[in-house]
Amino acid sequence: MNTLFMHCRPGFEGEVCAEISEHAALLGIAGYARGKPQSACAEFVCAEPDGGERLMRELRFERLIFPRQWARGAFVELPESDRISVLLEHLADYPVFGSLWLEVLDSNEGKELSTFCRKFEVPLRKALHKAGRLVENAAGPRLLLTFISGRRVFVGLAESNNSALWPMGIPRLKFPREAPSRSTLKLEEAWHQFIPREQWDLRLNDDMTGVDLGASPGGWTYQLVKRGMLVTAIDNGPMAESLMETGLVQHLMADGFTWQPKHTVDWMVCDIVEKPARTASLIETWLGEGLCREAVVNLKLPMKQRYGEVRRLLDRIEAGFKARKVKVSIACKQLYHDREEVTCHLRRLDLKSR
Ligand SMILES: C[S@@+](CC[C@H](N)C(=O)[O-])C[C@H]1O[C@@H](n2cnc3c(N)ncnc32)[C@H](O)[C@@H]1O
Repeated sequence: MNTLFMHCRPGFEGEVCAEISEHAALLGIAGYARGKPQSACAEFVCAEPDGGERLMRELRFERLIFPRQWARGAFVELPESDRISVLLEHLADYPVFGSLWLEVLDSNEGKELSTFCRKFEVPLRKALHKAGRLVENAAGPRLLLTFISGRRVFVGLAESNNSALWPMGIPRLKFPREAPSRSTLKLEEAWHQFIPREQWDLRLNDDMTGVDLGASPGGWTYQLVKRGMLVTAIDNGPMAESLMETGLVQHLMADGFTWQPKHTVDWMVCDIVEKPARTASLIETWLGEGLCREAVVNLKLPMKQRYGEVRRLLDRIEAGFKARKVKVSIACKQLYHDREEVTCHLRRLDLKSR
């Protein structure tokens, strides 16, 4: 079980390798990372047998930016028939699992394998139950099987409270027909990712005010309005009529980088396509000066060294808050609905909520 296997957005394998290598080096865990370009996965092969377990024990999955899912384990070659017996034999060294997820990679080959996985899951689950290897319990260790092909699978283990919230790290969100743009799902996913469900009514409610920087045509504003907030939408572009008709939206044609509210707002969200360093400064100003209590901001990443750039900017933002002596929690994740970008969530911890 010395390999840590990670899923990611195709094209971001290098970022996953850079990120996990940096953490492993800081923790003194020897090994090497590799990830074939466009394969939608990467692995960290540890020198010591307990390296994978140590990495997962020392790191919180939600603090990692680019991996969508992770598990420690090993690759297993499967025969053409009776794959289940081979799997059961391999699982003899593993603990009893509380849940089973069959996963594929976010690639064309992966998509082709999902039908096979759906069919295979039923007999496999039955066999695991019968052999006492799986006793359904949501809090127990999770068996993650990532099929690379019908004959090759990564057999992995992950703690259910320290791994992706959804199989393959992909939330199944339904596009709301009334929303003006598909990017509405980015903000909805951000809320699922960063705000525990039981806190939504407290932190996303109709007593609140929000600002949407770069709001047109209104996919993100739609999400704020859906939670009943009064929204100031900043963009020179038009807002969807349906949103304006709610009476909850004030549309201002202004520059999102200079416009500021007169009073602290509960939420600032920003999806402007801009150099990430400039967006990072915007984050620092809004949270640092207390213009908002909480924010979701997209950092666009067109450059090559994307992990290095995100790390540098997050460190800069953090140092900025420290210098101002303000307490802000910072999280950053490449969401499933993100493309060449990552999503940051920030929350002032020292500003009283209203
Ligand atoms: C990716 S789109 C936003 C889509 C929006 N989040 C949605 O869900 O419908 C980016 C928007 O930022 C706006 N924009 C670009 N620069 C801006 C600036 N300096 N101030 C305000 N808006 C800006 C553009 O007009 C564009 O509408």
